[in-house]
Amino acid sequence: MAKAKTNYTCSECGGISNKWTGQCPACHAWNTLVETVVETPGVNRLSNPVHRSLAQTAPVLSLADIEAVDVPRFGTGIEEFDRVLGGGLVAGGVVLIGGDPGIGKSTLLLQALANISQSKSTLYVSGEESGAQIALRARRLGVEATSLKLQAEIQLEKILGTLADLKPDVAVIDSIQTVYSDALSSAPGSVAQVRECAAQLTRVAKQTGVTIILVGHVTKEGALAGPRVLEHIVDTVLYFEGDTQSSFRLVRAIKNRFGAINELGVFAMSEKGLKGVSNPSALFLSSHDSAVPGSVVMVTQEGTRPLLVEIQALVDTSHLPNARRLSVGLEQNRLAMLLAVLHRHAGIAAFDQDVFINAVGGVKITEPAADLAVLLAINSSMRNKALPRGLVVFGEVGLAGEIRPAPRGQERLREAAKLGFSIAMIPKSNAPKQKIEGMTIVAVERIDEAFNKLRELD
Ligand SMILES: Nc1ncnc2c1ncn2[C@@H]1O[C@H](COP(=O)(O)OP(=O)(O)OP(=O)(O)O)[C@@H](O)[C@H]1O
Ligand SMILES: [Mg+2]
Repeated sequence: MAKAKTNYTCSECGGISNKWTGQCPACHAWNTLVETVVETPGVNRLSNPVHRSLAQTAPVLSLADIEAVDVPRFGTGIEEFDRVLGGGLVAGGVVLIGGDPGIGKSTLLLQALANISQSKSTLYVSGEESGAQIALRARRLGVEATSLKLQAEIQLEKILGTLADLKPDVAVIDSIQTVYSDALSSAPGSVAQVRECAAQLTRVAKQTGVTIILVGHVTKEGALAGPRVLEHIVDTVLYFEGDTQSSFRLVRAIKNRFGAINELGVFAMSEKGLKGVSNPSALFLSSHDSAVPGSVVMVTQEGTRPLLVEIQALVDTSHLPNARRLSVGLEQNRLAMLLAVLHRHAGIAAFDQDVFINAVGGVKITEPAADLAVLLAINSSMRNKALPRGLVVFGEVGLAGEIRPAPRGQERLREAAKLGFSIAMIPKSNAPKQKIEGMTIVAVERIDEAFNKLRELD
């Protein structure tokens, strides 16, 4: 196939150059030029699949005349996976699933495809493993998938040919970084290739109604490799989380055009593959025999489920001119802000201390309701004094030192009570109207008040 004409477009300013240079000739940004196919006017102008399908079938209608049809969904046979997908896969939907190497992306998708293949036609395209390797994995997982079709292929045009021939209901592309199109001269995995291949596959999905699941690699920083536009092209973006040391894996929805996001799928990795954990609330608690300084349990809300997570802090005298602030699983910038609040509104200074915080079990907490727990853990480590046993905490801390309510407070409290926690320090606005059996509620409005009440508890 003849190479299509390409040029280089700056991802910052959109400037165009005929050859690759390190610096964009237009805006002088470095390393921003990306190879793109030159669009021949009239033919390829509508290369964006969304634009093209709209252009083909776009009579003007009034909203009232359009029948609102529910998107038909079908399950993957894995309850936790369906949950993050917002109730199952959608015909013509494109799902991007990213995650660290070896976290279990191929495993999960092979299991899901095997289930689906019992009632629908399925295709697994692998650019990373041979058919034999996949068959070996299928045998280890004990999946029965006699009708699952496999193809070890990395050239986009051939994959599109297979899709046209087989007309599967669901196709997995593992991974989008290995696929390359003949139209571009860039290497597979480059921004240009990833973007072009994903756009082409999306176009096919929208035209033929095949559900496509793309596997994406993540960069060292944890973002999906390839351009941000990849996330815009697809309908659903899922991320695998969890540390590979522990057997637990979380799948989180980052974007979903067909359902709510921030639902969490929880899995345990075993020899037989990923198994859903339907009641994960106690998963992220490490079991200490006695209370230890710097550790506090918080209740976080993930989608519709409350989850108890242990937050650990370590504060130690710093020997560096700039004391270190390091957080794992929690937001780094938020930590700096909370330390400022701690100093300003509770009089506890940490400018000469290294501060490390960690959410146990590799879970990532993005909600601000973790603030109070982080501050209590830091204070506890600083004073080398353990917090009372059975204490559970949640609440957002504002810049003025006020403690703000967290959404779904009652559900969080009920879950903590169910798991045997006996004291809850929570924002005043979250205080329950009725007494919760076996639980003392300590409602606080300000951060200094929280520390005072904590002292009374000892
Ligand atoms: N025999 C086994 N018993 C238990 N777990 C296993 C076994 N073999 C593999 N695993 C688990 O499966 C993981 C690999 O899963 P998988 O190949 O699905 O990951 P992946 O996300 O597709 O990785 P990559 O990005 O390299 O393609 C391993 O890290 C390991 O945790
Ligand atoms: Mg894989």
